[in-house]
Amino acid sequence: MTQQDLSKQIKRRRTFAIISHPDAGKTTLTEKLLLYGGAIRLAGSVKSRRSQKHAVSDWMEIEKQRGISVTSSVLQFEYNGYCINILDTPGHQDFSEDTYRTLMAADSAVMVIDCAKGVEEQTKKLFHVCKMRGIPIFTFINKLDRAGKSPFELMEEIEKVLGIKSYPMNWPIGTDGDFKGVYNRSKSQIELFSDGNHGQSVVSSIVGDVGDVAFKEHLGEQQHQQLMEEIELLDMAGDEFNLNKILNGQLTPIFFGSAMTNFGVQPFLESFLSLTTPPAGRTSNIGEIDPLSNEFSGFIFKIQANMNPTHRDRIAFLRICSGKFDKGMTVNHVQGNKKVRLSQPQQFMAQDRVIVEEAYAGDIIGIHDPGIFRIGDTLCHLQDKIMYEGIPVFAPEHFAKIYAKNSLKRKHFLKGISQIAEEGAIQVFKRPQLGVEELIVGVVGALQFEVLEYRLNNEYGVEVVMNQLPYKYIRWVEMENFDADSFGVTMDTLIVEDEDQQPVLLFQNEWSIDRVKERNPKAVLKDISSRR
Ligand code: G4P
Repeated sequence: MTQQDLSKQIKRRRTFAIISHPDAGKTTLTEKLLLYGGAIRLAGSVKSRRSQKHAVSDWMEIEKQRGISVTSSVLQFEYNGYCINILDTPGHQDFSEDTYRTLMAADSAVMVIDCAKGVEEQTKKLFHVCKMRGIPIFTFINKLDRAGKSPFELMEEIEKVLGIKSYPMNWPIGTDGDFKGVYNRSKSQIELFSDGNHGQSVVSSIVGDVGDVAFKEHLGEQQHQQLMEEIELLDMAGDEFNLNKILNGQLTPIFFGSAMTNFGVQPFLESFLSLTTPPAGRTSNIGEIDPLSNEFSGFIFKIQANMNPTHRDRIAFLRICSGKFDKGMTVNHVQGNKKVRLSQPQQFMAQDRVIVEEAYAGDIIGIHDPGIFRIGDTLCHLQDKIMYEGIPVFAPEHFAKIYAKNSLKRKHFLKGISQIAEEGAIQVFKRPQLGVEELIVGVVGALQFEVLEYRLNNEYGVEVVMNQLPYKYIRWVEMENFDADSFGVTMDTLIVEDEDQQPVLLFQNEWSIDRVKERNPKAVLKDISSRR
């Protein structure tokens, strides 16, 4: 392949994550984007959990049962010459770690906000992760077909609560439950809303110049007048459109629409594609790596076992950062210091997986993981030894003792625990004197305990007993010649070790952390593990 062809392929890639508070409409929007991309012909529209219909991006049985997205899914589709990778992320806060890792693989983010609820708790958290990465953030204000807050109020909320300025790309007409359509600011035209087929297929909207008398008649004198005044106010008092600021994550373009009815989805997609840029260079230990480079490289941002119960395998999700990937290619697994052949690379379309023959910088592929990869590992061209920036490990805040109900199932139990730990969903600790008889698991969000219990039972056939422990804080101890017996701790502190046999302390309160620091001045206590 010539350099020109390679550049062409990479430049048409757009890789983004969709973030939102649960129920804002993330899954519905994802589904509609796929619908416009021709990836699905009829959207499962209004994925009604009550009627047990599920969106294409819901994978695991548990997600269906609980009605929340537990793991992030990756979907690829083509639109207007672009090759789009969508990373769907779990909205529930207890899975924010997974979302964080997924955001590491995205080049931009789409933030979905419910127009009636505005900026919600989880939106804030996820937004801050995007902000930390400095990626462009696009805002889709959803459910315009229902009554919601005024658009000015929403803009103010975004600025005040999230600390980012916004630029409305379109402006809604009628937000009090009488939604008529939007005014497209760049085209100075009105796009009327028609809820023809309840969003099951692509809609075409009626479009025309804002001054057209037909619109005046349709909207009525008063509403038309109000619109004209609002447009004027926006032009005069609002922030200016500035592409650089958008690309640096300092200004968020806002799109008003209704994912359920499809209104505004296509203009959003087209505008999004024209404003975002292809994959940019990423930082590694030898500096920034050019995505257009001929040499393949990428990093693993997610590992998941048993994605498909009939396959019972483990998949590592690889974000390609430079060059081209060919099926069967042998690459350097830098952290493992080994050559690996990537023979069964896959791409995802919900339940369906397809074998990929080739993939480019920006794409996400799933590779078979025989248990050798860890999150954050770099794979690159054989001659290279680059390492991309690591993915931080969150400090768990909930801890529980866990053991298998039936001791004959111990082998399965340990396998399940270790595989789920490798996915990054849980962290496992041991009390050195007790060995593996009694394991302690730590999780960032309490719901992950339920997922763990469910998965151990469902995927590994092991029933477990779990007793929650009162610890809330974790510190890794760094000191020479650590000795658990002579290390001074308070009565309510527990000394354990992590999977790398590093000493770890579990605390119930911050007071104890301070006392332990005082008693052991040579020890450095860290709330993030220093392992790779
Ligand atoms: P999430 O992934 O962000 O959690 O949200 P999801 O897409 O599942 O949407 C949450 C609910 O909001 C769904 O209703 C969905 O139909 C509805 N919804 C999404 N977009 C719109 C929209 O543009 N307008 C309106 N009015 N509703 C929208 P549900 O309660 O899960 O199902 P159902 O009872 O509505 O069938």
